[in-house]
Amino acid sequence: MAKLAETLAFKQLREHKRSLESVRIFDLFLLEPKRLENLTFEFDDFLFDFSKNHLSYQTLNLLIDLAKEQNLPEKIEQMFNGEKINFTEHRAALHIALRNFGAQPIKVDGWDVMPKVNSVLLKMRNFTEMVHNGFWRGFRGDRITDVVHIGIGGSDLGPRLVCDALEYYRKPNITVHFVSNVDGNDIQKVLRVVNPFRTLFIIASKSFTTQETLINANTAKEWFLLNTNAMEKDLAKHFVAISTNEEACQKFGIPTENMFHFWNWVGGRFSLWSAIGLVIALYIGFENFQNLLEGAYVVDKHFRYEPLERNIPVIMGLLNVWYTNFWNYHTQAIVPYDLQLRLLPDYLQQLIMESNGKRVNSQGEEVDYHTSPVIWGKVGTDCQHSFFQLLHQGTQVVPIDFLAPAEPVHSFPNHHEVLISNFIAQSEALMLGKNKEEVAKELSQSGLEVLERTELLPHKIFHGNRPSTSIFYKKLNPKTLGSLLAFYEHRVFVEGVLWDINSFDQWGVELGKQIAKKVLKQIENRRIDKDVSPSTKLLLEFFFKNFKR
Ligand code: F6P
Repeated sequence: MAKLAETLAFKQLREHKRSLESVRIFDLFLLEPKRLENLTFEFDDFLFDFSKNHLSYQTLNLLIDLAKEQNLPEKIEQMFNGEKINFTEHRAALHIALRNFGAQPIKVDGWDVMPKVNSVLLKMRNFTEMVHNGFWRGFRGDRITDVVHIGIGGSDLGPRLVCDALEYYRKPNITVHFVSNVDGNDIQKVLRVVNPFRTLFIIASKSFTTQETLINANTAKEWFLLNTNAMEKDLAKHFVAISTNEEACQKFGIPTENMFHFWNWVGGRFSLWSAIGLVIALYIGFENFQNLLEGAYVVDKHFRYEPLERNIPVIMGLLNVWYTNFWNYHTQAIVPYDLQLRLLPDYLQQLIMESNGKRVNSQGEEVDYHTSPVIWGKVGTDCQHSFFQLLHQGTQVVPIDFLAPAEPVHSFPNHHEVLISNFIAQSEALMLGKNKEEVAKELSQSGLEVLERTELLPHKIFHGNRPSTSIFYKKLNPKTLGSLLAFYEHRVFVEGVLWDINSFDQWGVELGKQIAKKVLKQIENRRIDKDVSPSTKLLLEFFFKNFKR
């Protein structure tokens, strides 16, 4: 595979970008009569509108050439065929097997993984139904009313987002709580409100070695024993684990029967479809959990079989490469006009940045181009009153993904019309802007003094031409949510292939963990090592002076 910047398409795209720079996005609608046909896509309950981007049909074709030069079609097949595309950890990346409703086997090392996947799904279904119908009870015979999910990163963000987003589909009488942070406030807030006799704790950790999760799990266990006078054996009615590490779960005191397995070919940030999603099934019911999986499955099929020029995750990924490597846009905002998706930016931060925040290619060489942008965002309309000033008039150009449901889950249609008017207006305003003549005309009708008008004029100009993608869906439900998340997962994969990096490892989180261990030792011993930096020494001294255990 040629290096990205040395490919023919890359060079052509560089040239092409120069010619496109002087064309305003809005003018592309006039220049390209088939723009909507070529750059908007309806898929199931979704409408993707890429037309308000610095993207012509020619750009898309060149980007597709680039994708072909980077062997994207072959790489997609490799992923679906269970090849070890996670090349630094020598693992497959097979989250697609977790939502595979097809009859074909999916093999890793020659073994079909589907029987195992289906048997864990069956165990999840049985367990969920037992909790819901009251066959599974606390050790004293109380019904389970609260589920506390303890996990972090990929073992938290996905299930947390899905439960929050799908609260309208929740089962009656089950409340879920999430604890991720090692900050004691997190678990304290939850333990304050749950009744131990009626609570089920789910300890979710792929490795079962993650510091934060183990501390929180131990605190939960101690609190439970202290507040119930239960015996160790009674824990089995209140603690279950989800992990790949059976031995560590047993060591913690969770018997194998209470374990829900998954496998090292599931990346943490791609794991909500696995047993990590048990809390989702408990909250919204197993059928709805399956609908979520089905939503992802239909997108998997689309991603695998749709031609590149009509392939939505491919276009999402290519667009982002286009902005990162040719337009030098290094942040991207995610703005859902859907309160139910308020956690989407948090979730996508891990999915996108932990996957593609890398700088070494498959040959072990440092790349000479940028990779993942910084992902951030917040729910609309709130963010219109915080960072939208910068989006409209700041010096940075930030491509945005706007998302909204055509039909709300609530029952206030007048609110929804106002919400959607804002969703549509913002992308239009960012693209159109307001030029000097328009501002001058507006000011002339304002009744202000001439001097004041002249002073105000430059402040009221919007250059416009700011790009965004609109993702409109009929209604947020388990299936549409599953699809939406799968679109983003595959987008991440596309970008990783184009940049020739490994989207499935995360070595970048290790150094901080190692140093934190050393610092913790110094804190516990109240002794500062000689080799720490002067700044760290100062911080430790301040801490020792002000914190008494
Ligand atoms: O943040 C690093 C990370 O390894 C993530 O990739 C992972 O999702 C998270 O920690 C939690 O890991 P585990 O599920 O093993 O506790």
